[in-house]
Amino acid sequence: MKNHNQNVSHEYSKAIIEGANSIVANTGKGKFAGYEAADIDLVSEEVLEQSFGCGNPLAFSAVQPGQTVLDLGCGAGLDLLLAVEKVGANGRVIGVDMNDDMLALAKRNCQDHPNIELRQGVIENLPIDSDSVDWVISNCVINLSEDKQSAFDEIARVLKPGGKMLVSDIVGENIPAWARYSGAVKAACAGGVISESQYLDGLAQAGLANGEVLARQFYDANQIASIVSDAAPKFLSKLKCCGKNLLQSVLTKAVRPVAQNIWSAKITARLVEQP
Ligand SMILES: C[S@@+](CC[C@H](N)C(=O)[O-])C[C@H]1O[C@@H](n2cnc3c(N)ncnc32)[C@H](O)[C@@H]1O
Repeated sequence: MKNHNQNVSHEYSKAIIEGANSIVANTGKGKFAGYEAADIDLVSEEVLEQSFGCGNPLAFSAVQPGQTVLDLGCGAGLDLLLAVEKVGANGRVIGVDMNDDMLALAKRNCQDHPNIELRQGVIENLPIDSDSVDWVISNCVINLSEDKQSAFDEIARVLKPGGKMLVSDIVGENIPAWARYSGAVKAACAGGVISESQYLDGLAQAGLANGEVLARQFYDANQIASIVSDAAPKFLSKLKCCGKNLLQSVLTKAVRPVAQNIWSAKITARLVEQP
């Protein structure tokens, strides 16, 4: 898992430097679907450009002033900045990410908010106390994990009884083996996805109740095909069997069915209070 996380982290450092390579990047308006215009107005253009989300995890939330929100894989901090507006001066927002380059951006973007705290760490082994947060949010991160059950277990561990999880994430079905083997396709949020029912089963197994899909956002198949086919030749070029153009056109046809089987889901669950 360590190597896998290092590869994903490397891809996100590259994405910051070279421009985006995620399923959610360059998808036009789709990238910010779920955010209200008022949310978008709260943050700078730069923060929006540095975002790699696939929904708005805080939509449908009832975060109250004074509460604690934890963002798994916070990236450059868009959702941290929106969460801090909700918890107010007496609340707390914590962002965890494994990537130092992302954390450096988040540190700069959140510098005016002393109650936003950033921690370096992995979602499969969170640097967070047990029973300590009211909300766990996450935006397009859990699909990247090779050990999703540990991530679900960690969510259950850190939530206070009665606390809630709200994540936006890419889910999917019938992903072909070639896409699952490509590190680049995985890092583009497409290769490592699980189905909605696997997601809900994993949450239940972690002890979280009332798992539910609240909303779905579908992508244009052409956009996903082009993003995945951009990423995949790094893997397929090892075959050395045909020219790149031919490979690209064969691949674009091949990924079309993959694209139709991937979407963004807004998923919730909660840690039940013991009687
Ligand atoms: C698709 S980006 C989303 C970033 C941010 N949530 C947003 O909406 O802009 C994925 C982020 O998750 C982080 N990440 C991926 N896997 C992780 C893991 N296992 N533990 C901690 N962070 C992880 C990456 O470093 C990256 O910043």
